[in-house]
Amino acid sequence: MTRWNDGTDEISAVSPDITDETNALPAKYFTDPDVWELEKEKVFSRYWVYAGHANSIPEPGDFFTRTVGDKQVIVVRARDGEVRAYFNVCAHRGSKMVDDTPMTDPGNMGRIRCPYHLWTYDLDGTLSSTPKSFEEASLNPDLEDDDVRKLDAERNGLMEVTTDSIGPLVFLNFDDDPMPLEEQTGKMKRELETLPLDEYVLARRIVSEVECNWKTFGGNYSECDHCEANHQDWIRGIQLDESELEVNDYHWVLHYTHEEDVDDEMRIHEEHEAKFYYLWPNFTVNMYGTADGYGTYIIDPIDEGRFNLVADYYFREADLSAEEQEFIRTSRQLQEEDFELVERQYAGMKMGAIGQAQLGPNEHTLHKFHRLAQEAYNA
Ligand code: FES
Ligand SMILES: [Fe+2]
Repeated sequence: MTRWNDGTDEISAVSPDITDETNALPAKYFTDPDVWELEKEKVFSRYWVYAGHANSIPEPGDFFTRTVGDKQVIVVRARDGEVRAYFNVCAHRGSKMVDDTPMTDPGNMGRIRCPYHLWTYDLDGTLSSTPKSFEEASLNPDLEDDDVRKLDAERNGLMEVTTDSIGPLVFLNFDDDPMPLEEQTGKMKRELETLPLDEYVLARRIVSEVECNWKTFGGNYSECDHCEANHQDWIRGIQLDESELEVNDYHWVLHYTHEEDVDDEMRIHEEHEAKFYYLWPNFTVNMYGTADGYGTYIIDPIDEGRFNLVADYYFREADLSAEEQEFIRTSRQLQEEDFELVERQYAGMKMGAIGQAQLGPNEHTLHKFHRLAQEAYNA
């Protein structure tokens, strides 16, 4: 049952096991700034998070930056063709090196150079050159000091962040000993790898700042019980009563069946349906039933009460056809309808009246989502 805060019911008294007494994550995990601080370590520094798309950086030296919580990485195509990620932090005295560079407007550099004292790194992260003053203490002979160690280039490279990918989708993990990407993405990885994701390019990115906790939007994405009442345009042609949920270890999938007349040419995958994958913690892959393309969402927290929705659309060509533009318009409308819902929900949650919500027995995906969050906080 829902637990209300009636002035006597302390939120801290709620059962630590969300499946024991009531089945939702306590409301404070959506509204408390300390929880966002906790999530930076326990969620966003431990699980695989999406970095971006390898097709955006085809040539050696092409790069973009990606910020996850307080951390920022440079995602770069190295000379051997591999995509690598480094903390955007200089090994000398810790300066941030390159400016924020979105995936939609990647930069190119032959080497990674820190503007502060010009330490310069190869694309494989090794320190390749420093100004003369770093190499010769004898520039100040009076002060020559045997206690000051010579610079060891080999031990002063950039800090690399673990990456792995599903086709062109590049993921990052900040943990020292991360679980394999296969473990977190399971069947989703196997399914996506059967598709020619590589043949598609980024055609559009829409970024929106939304006033609610990232998990509030994550929950909204994970169910369509609100669709009939709120997405009239989008559900046209979809047989909602035949939609199915699939729940896996770290991801869940919503399947929507389309009416028979959807043209088979109009989608990248073969099934007569749309598939929406939610990958814990904050990434989705959207396999549309009615477009020869796919999309991704990054539900990027800014703090406990705000996130950016980064919506990327991939089509055969970067230049959009009229049909594709119309598709994106409908998709955008869907997002705006959802933003209204989640902001209203969040305004309610912030009133402090609710200590712990009540999920319906059929909200399997939300149960999974809340339990993964609880598992992460307790780990
Ligand atoms: S802090 Fe980067 S070169 Fe000095
Ligand atoms: Fe929705």
